[in-house]
Amino acid sequence: MSKFWSPFVKDLVPYVPGEQPKLTRLVKLNTNENPYGPSPKALAAMQGELNDNLRLYPDPNSDLLKQAVARYYGVQSNQVFLGNGSDEVLAHIFHGLLQHDQPLLFPDISYSFYPVYCGLYGIDFEAVPLDEQFQIRTADYARPNGGIIFPNPNAPTGCLLALEAVEQILKASPDSVVVVDEAYIDFGGETAISLVDRYPNLLVTQTLSKSRSLAGLRVGLAVGHPDLIEALERIKNSFNSYPLDRLAIVGAAAAFDDREYFAKTCQLVIDSREQVVAQLRAKGFEVLPSAANFIFARHPQHDAAGLAAKLREQGVIVRHFKQERIAQFLRISIGTPEQNQALIDGLGEL
Ligand SMILES: Cc1ncc(COP(=O)(O)O)c(C=O)c1O
Repeated sequence: MSKFWSPFVKDLVPYVPGEQPKLTRLVKLNTNENPYGPSPKALAAMQGELNDNLRLYPDPNSDLLKQAVARYYGVQSNQVFLGNGSDEVLAHIFHGLLQHDQPLLFPDISYSFYPVYCGLYGIDFEAVPLDEQFQIRTADYARPNGGIIFPNPNAPTGCLLALEAVEQILKASPDSVVVVDEAYIDFGGETAISLVDRYPNLLVTQTLSKSRSLAGLRVGLAVGHPDLIEALERIKNSFNSYPLDRLAIVGAAAAFDDREYFAKTCQLVIDSREQVVAQLRAKGFEVLPSAANFIFARHPQHDAAGLAAKLREQGVIVRHFKQERIAQFLRISIGTPEQNQALIDGLGEL
């Protein structure tokens, strides 16, 4: 704390990202990155952009990428918003669309950045408990609110809410913005983008960090009614006109266009996930049903923090949250078959 700080800074509780270790030997299963590289076409597009044009600012509207996303999802470009990772997109959404008199609703177990944005922008919120099976109960959201946000599949549980249930939430709160954070949707869910033309209160966010393996590039997006997108553009253009650089625009557009590589690598992750789930269950773990590129598991006889420490000694890092209700769970990202085997070996005989 210093006398130079603006007063609100001392009360901020910042988000703590998963560890990015300097040691490269570690088997890194802690931040839900994709174990397969980005599309070779995306890499080639970025290499093609490494030239003298970097002295020029990028297109502030990233039209090339907006068009690629619009093409992919069959929507109009003015229904697409882009940002520097979906975290930045979410920040603008909290700021521009979720700050109202009634509290914002989100699940008690959910993406831990949501309460951080509420703190940053002074948004009142209520954490709505998941049920005993860690599922979202749609009826709990049918009450006065200033907005609703949830990841689908949820994080860190990996549990998917069916599209019909998403639609129930939308119908019950027609006067609030409902944000569906689909960071992990490509690993087994069905996107709610198909609903945006019918529900002007729906905003869907996605990221290229997971299923398109571009976490290092920082590109995220939102799709919704042009009126919602306009609010986000107003915030963005009052904050940073160029959140996406030249490499990000061409690389992300090429990644969207390379449907074949995308489908292949998503399927590899899904197949590995099912294998890891079976192996962990055979070791006595309880594993929540996952539609994501990670799983959430607990062992009835072994303390989660102890297991995480033991795995770390074997060079495997997973994520453990010291949070009520989930302190005995580990969140484990799906890696390559070799990395997944290192996880299973690292657990040893339990
Ligand atoms: C649920 C959820 N939403 C959003 C994000 C942010 O992703 P990014 O900022 O890399 O797009 C993450 C990252 O882990 C996440 O788990």
